[in-house]
Amino acid sequence: MDPVRNPYAPGAGQRPPELAGRDRELQQFEVVLERVARGRPERSMVVTGLRGVGKTVLLNTFKSMAMQRLWGTGKIEARPDQSIRRPVAAALHMAIRELAPRHRAPERIEEFLGVLKAFAMRDPAAAKGTSHWSPGIEVPASRGRADSGDLEIDLTELFVDAAGVATDLAVGIALFIDEMQDVPAADVSALCAACHELSQTGGPLIVVGAGLPHLPSVLSASKSYSERLFRYARIDKLDRDAADLALILPAREEDVEFTPDALDALYEAADGYPYFVQAYGKVAWDLAPRSPITLDDVKVSAPEAEEELAVGFFGSRYERATPAERDYMHAMAQIGDEPVATAEVADALGRKPSSLSPARDSLIKKGLIYSAERGLIAFTVPHFGKFLRAQPV
Ligand SMILES: Nc1ncnc2c1ncn2[C@@H]1O[C@H](COP(=O)(O)OP(=O)(O)OP(=O)(O)O)[C@@H](O)[C@H]1O
Ligand SMILES: [Mg+2]
Repeated sequence: MDPVRNPYAPGAGQRPPELAGRDRELQQFEVVLERVARGRPERSMVVTGLRGVGKTVLLNTFKSMAMQRLWGTGKIEARPDQSIRRPVAAALHMAIRELAPRHRAPERIEEFLGVLKAFAMRDPAAAKGTSHWSPGIEVPASRGRADSGDLEIDLTELFVDAAGVATDLAVGIALFIDEMQDVPAADVSALCAACHELSQTGGPLIVVGAGLPHLPSVLSASKSYSERLFRYARIDKLDRDAADLALILPAREEDVEFTPDALDALYEAADGYPYFVQAYGKVAWDLAPRSPITLDDVKVSAPEAEEELAVGFFGSRYERATPAERDYMHAMAQIGDEPVATAEVADALGRKPSSLSPARDSLIKKGLIYSAERGLIAFTVPHFGKFLRAQPV
């Protein structure tokens, strides 16, 4: 059928035509926004889940919800080995720019921008005395606030001031952090401390995160009270009804239907994983001659969808691994699809567990595997074991 009208959207962070099966999380976030705006004590949210399960899309939806309530919003994507100081400064700059036109006292905004600039310029990575960061802040950097060089102190002061500007307007500020497991350890600790401080003063600023399933343990390793700061929402594959809706509703908009056995086959292939739902749906649409999309259409299109996933979803990640890391993952895949013991992987490779730690650690850092619980590891990418077993070694 006409590829131009194809509604499905496989791709990282691509907004799906229908955000299926996430009503509970949306409702929870609605409550968070409402409570924070009213100055009620409230924990912020952190969304976790495997690759391609829809974390970025959900975070973006939360951002839209906050904007709809006229909140100031900003978003960063954390990177390993990169301090969050500059990205957070840029994100809060965006948030304040959203609020500024409605603020009655321009000097309050200027005052905050001066603090923000001082905060950003304290980046130790920048050469001394220079300001590489040209954020378009015209006001001079202020002194003596959020510029100590200690990220914990500086973030706390910056957040409190930003929250103050939002309070003037009776709204809030939401800072979104995607790939939060990649925030460097020292920065995680500073971030939690700043959120903790803020939650005690009731300032209307929240940090909303998204990351891989081990993110809660990254946070609690850093600050034991992190469990009381964040409400964790683990998102997973879609159940049958939600996966069907993700396919049916966008098609219906274009007067296209699926036969029931086509939906059976699509669910079997995609296993409810949002990325796969979009990928199989997209190819089935393109190859089907007419509505309804039938079981035969799905069968004919499945190899092409798998081919595209092998290149775009699995292959692009596999390529990031070194030969030693690939051996490690192949050994994991041979053992099975459940979380596996690191000792068992070492056994399978005929090596000492300690000699494999570098490979394991760098795979974790690359976000390809995660430590499910002590001594156990698993793939972050759904169906990755199956993909690896089909690869020539
Ligand atoms: N609730 C949903 N219903 C239907 N499709 C969805 C849903 N959530 C996400 N998708 C689709 O799944 C794909 C992956 O979404 P997204 O990039 O948000 O995943 P992610 O969890 O952030 O993955 P990664 O860990 O790789 O960053 C996109 O193509 C998106 O359109
Ligand atoms: Mg993402």
